[in-house]
Amino acid sequence: MKNFEQRVFSGVQPTGTLHLGNYLGAIKNFVELQNKYNCVYCVVDQHAITVEQNPAELKSNILEVLASFIAAGVDYKKQIIFQQSSVPAHSQLAWVFNCVSRIGWLNRMTQFKDKAGKNKENVSVGLMVYPNLMAADILAYLATHVPVGDDQKQHLELSRDIAQKFNNDFGVDFFPLPEPLIYGNATRVMSLRDGTKKMSKSDPSDFSRILLTDEDDIIVSKIKKAKSDSELIPSSLDDLEAKPECLNLINILSASLNQEASKTLGQYAGKEYSTLKKDLAECLVQVISPIRVEIKNLLNNQDELNAILATGTEKASLIANPILEDVYKIVGFK
Ligand code: AMP
Ligand code: TRP
Repeated sequence: MKNFEQRVFSGVQPTGTLHLGNYLGAIKNFVELQNKYNCVYCVVDQHAITVEQNPAELKSNILEVLASFIAAGVDYKKQIIFQQSSVPAHSQLAWVFNCVSRIGWLNRMTQFKDKAGKNKENVSVGLMVYPNLMAADILAYLATHVPVGDDQKQHLELSRDIAQKFNNDFGVDFFPLPEPLIYGNATRVMSLRDGTKKMSKSDPSDFSRILLTDEDDIIVSKIKKAKSDSELIPSSLDDLEAKPECLNLINILSASLNQEASKTLGQYAGKEYSTLKKDLAECLVQVISPIRVEIKNLLNNQDELNAILATGTEKASLIANPILEDVYKIVGFK
């Protein structure tokens, strides 16, 4: 396999205000990776419509995700940030991948099974072929590294399978096999109400998640009300495994402080949860409040956000269009 130029690609769906799981699991890593790689970060609006969206809300969510990237520290001047639907190469390459990928592969996707539930016959076709579009997002830039939270691991494996099968089917060494970058102490941030469920935009309880737009007093009260128990905090990570809510709080604090969970646990073992929660709330206020303020500032200047998107579209197209041209030649369209 040839030596591909290293490039990072990742995407976030504009399906609601971003939460702490999105930040610690993905966006914080997007920011760190900019020091080492050329990065392309995308607001994946075409993924969002695989389930029903309100069009007016979708448009404002697109700008909010963009504002959240910038507020968290993504450098839109040095890197590329843009909106998926503005670069048609994604859907054009996705069609080719629809014909490379296998139905059996998609049928194994756990996220599809979870989202479709008992309704498998009645969900959109888009929801099923979504991982093919995700592979196209990444491979339209020949990206080699993909920072995501743990829930996207299986989709990334499918992207690798598609890249490999395309190369084999056409006898080329064209696509790299993109590597997932799933790292840190918060690859899976759990709900504050139920430590066995991941923190998500769609959970009906507002108290299950902390949003990047939450005011300081809301952050404090959400952490105060987070589920825990009346025992003291255990001293070993093994004992902590049996207490998913406590493990989650320790992991969130560790990720926010950039330190190992074992070190954080050492600091809190034998103490009450109230002590941990007080420090965690303070720490999260410090992390989130500057981001919240900046998101609000940016959203007050929508013309500037739209201009940033337009520049991103140009820069992204310059990379993706020639790659799509090559794919069209390889498959025999040209
Ligand atoms: P989404 O909002 O589903 O587009 O997710 C955007 C990014 O955030 C993806 O890389 C996800 O893997 C990541 N992510 C979403 N929820 C969580 C969570 N609870 N913990 C860690 N990462 C998450
Ligand atoms: N499927 C990802 C999610 O739900 C979002 C996404 C779309 C993505 N395309 C991508 C992530 C490409 C990484 C790379 O979170």
